[in-house]
Amino acid sequence: MKVAVLGYGTVGVGVYEMLKAAESLEPGPVLVRPGKVDTDFKVSSIDDIVGDPSVDAVAEVMGGVEPAFTYAMAAIRAGKHFVTSNKALVAAKGVELNRAAREAGVCFLFSAACGGGVPILHNLARAARTDEILSVGGILNGTTNFMLDQMQSTGKDYADALKQAQELGYAEADPTADVTGLDALRKIMLACAVAWGILPQSGLLNEGIDSLSAEDVKDFMERGYVCRLVASGQRAEDGRISAYVEPVLVRAGDAESAVLKNYNMARYEGRNAGPIAMIGQGAGRYPTASAVLRDLSGICQGESAMFPADCIDGAADNSAAVHAYYMRLPKTCADAVPTAKILADDGNVIRILTKCVSVQNMHACAAELRKAGQKVFFAAVREA
Ligand code: HSE
Repeated sequence: MKVAVLGYGTVGVGVYEMLKAAESLEPGPVLVRPGKVDTDFKVSSIDDIVGDPSVDAVAEVMGGVEPAFTYAMAAIRAGKHFVTSNKALVAAKGVELNRAAREAGVCFLFSAACGGGVPILHNLARAARTDEILSVGGILNGTTNFMLDQMQSTGKDYADALKQAQELGYAEADPTADVTGLDALRKIMLACAVAWGILPQSGLLNEGIDSLSAEDVKDFMERGYVCRLVASGQRAEDGRISAYVEPVLVRAGDAESAVLKNYNMARYEGRNAGPIAMIGQGAGRYPTASAVLRDLSGICQGESAMFPADCIDGAADNSAAVHAYYMRLPKTCADAVPTAKILADDGNVIRILTKCVSVQNMHACAAELRKAGQKVFFAAVREA
């Protein structure tokens, strides 16, 4: 199968290199920006790919919704299988791409868009056909896991940890999506759609690690906690889906605390299978490229789709999920939160443990405080 590659950045180079060595696959033309065509395998017009009858499949690793979506639709309509690592694209346009690919009779796979090298969607899609999936989630962003690990194990500050994650090729071109939890949110959106056929587009909540300070790290580590950025998706008995991302304080010794560097720990729970967790590199050139190649090889073996045929866009509802939270906030704002216990008070800033509050109320409360110019950090506490 001849595979054209859209994009020649961190992941694109990895995909191209792996294609050269892969059984049953061969590299086709690579789409790059005009002015970047410096060798004969590179082209700068999508027409040179969709109009090339020798190309069987297109692997898109450019990132962003446009022009990736336009190129994807052109490839699918031209009868090419479509594989992507682009979570922004699939989170925004996955339902449309799924429909178009099925109509055109081509395959649409996106294992690399969630979990990097970890085959979570691949396995979840199979499990969802025969088991009832109760929940999905885990540590789904390699950049923030790397940063948290660095800050917690070496005392590195936030800016240095981010810079290093960028240098290692883990972060997005604009790392805002990583550090605000948006990247992990997009991944949990995909997992929800694979598990339940609903791609939530509204009602979603994401809190990242961009408010985390070295003082916060010192304080909660002294209390025996480790912070991880965790994505959660759950379907209630009545069919409502919750989907959110937030920092979580786990006990040193819990499974997540052992997930270090750029690793992810993706999990799902099936009614019959019980809980399943997979750990592996969640970001970086070759881990992500390996997932793209796994999808391409899967096409050769008859795999065609990850979303169910009737997958629709829908809404998340996070009103029923509740946690206790660790929170750092100005002392003058103490009344804004239902406090169970004051953990520390330096006269200006307090650190509290909240009562059990809904995820929705906690995120709304932090948003209100920030709107009023106040600085806060919060993280759910696993076992308060
Ligand atoms: N920026 C992403 C991450 C890349 O750090 O997880 C892999 O999706």
